[in-house]
Amino acid sequence: MKAISYNRYGGPEVLEYGELPDPKVGPDEVLVRVRAAAVNPVDWKAQAGYLDGMLDVVFPVVPGWDVSGVVVRTGVSVPEYDAGDEVMGYVREDVLAHGTFAEYVSAPVRTLARKPRSLGFEEAAALPLAGLTAYQVLQAQALAVRPGDTVLVHAAAGGVGSMAVQIARHLGCRVLGAARDAGLERVAELGAEPVRYDEGTFAEQVRALAPQGVDAVLDTIGGPFLELSARLLAPGGRLASIADGEVLALGGRYFWVRPDAADLAALADLADAGVLTVRVARTFPLERAADAQRANAAGGLNGKVVVTVP
Ligand SMILES: NC(=O)c1ccc[n+]([C@@H]2O[C@H](COP(=O)([O-])OP(=O)(O)OC[C@H]3O[C@@H](n4cnc5c(N)ncnc54)[C@H](OP(=O)(O)O)[C@@H]3O)[C@@H](O)[C@H]2O)c1
Repeated sequence: MKAISYNRYGGPEVLEYGELPDPKVGPDEVLVRVRAAAVNPVDWKAQAGYLDGMLDVVFPVVPGWDVSGVVVRTGVSVPEYDAGDEVMGYVREDVLAHGTFAEYVSAPVRTLARKPRSLGFEEAAALPLAGLTAYQVLQAQALAVRPGDTVLVHAAAGGVGSMAVQIARHLGCRVLGAARDAGLERVAELGAEPVRYDEGTFAEQVRALAPQGVDAVLDTIGGPFLELSARLLAPGGRLASIADGEVLALGGRYFWVRPDAADLAALADLADAGVLTVRVARTFPLERAADAQRANAAGGLNGKVVVTVP
């Protein structure tokens, strides 16, 4: 199969486009003909070696954890799918090896759900990782948002942030969405009250909107705004970060998304119900995956970057 892979840690320059053997299909796996694979910051962080203390690595590594595509074949213990089914998935395993930037990926059934009928392959590929993160962190013990809560979402026009705004609104929360530049407009479109990133006035803006403090903060960027956010919580307010372990010292929780077929199916239903929209800002063909990574890392797109595999 045609695939993108790397043989050593590094930046986009270590990515190679070429032939790799087709993946085998394990008992709990589904062979998916990939149609699209979204880029996430974790792809280029893992590729740079930042997760080396956590994940074994088997070179050559095919990067990418998000996918949409069509089932080709199922493993011997998979009654859930048939050839021809359209699926999407967050195909993260606890080893860096077989990712989604390829013509085919063997995906464990726990990482998959049926593709929402209302989304094309490109949009569906952009939903799993970001959507699951937002869905799980808002509802897990970390934040446990309730109807009527005021929730501050950081980088609210980003992949996870934009999902979190929409899901929190759906859960009956009032949402303050922090963003910069054109992201502010996007945040308002999604149903949040925009807050501009500006170290001098950030706290003032949030206090003007929520004088009693906010009930929950979802941090997606870390750094100075994380510390500032801890001081904007109402008494009993909850703080969670998906980006900065310093959150623990501030009394909050650090959260990592996990593949979950039921959560993914719930996200698909929300997409089909029109609750969740996905914005794909740029697409690149598979052979230009390095440029796709660069585009995601550069930011400023207010939408997902997706690699297509026609
Ligand atoms: N722990 C987990 O389970 C988990 C899961 C998913 C993601 N993450 C992490 O969460 C972060 C966000 O992921 P994502 O998928 O949402 O990324 P993304 O789609 O690339 O979006 C990143 C967002 O952050 C904004 N941003 C970056 N640096 C900023 C800064 N210094 N000040 C203000 N805004 C800033 C960007 O704004 P501009 O576009 O204006 O640059 C953009 O809106 C990444 O670090 C990722 O690795 C963790």
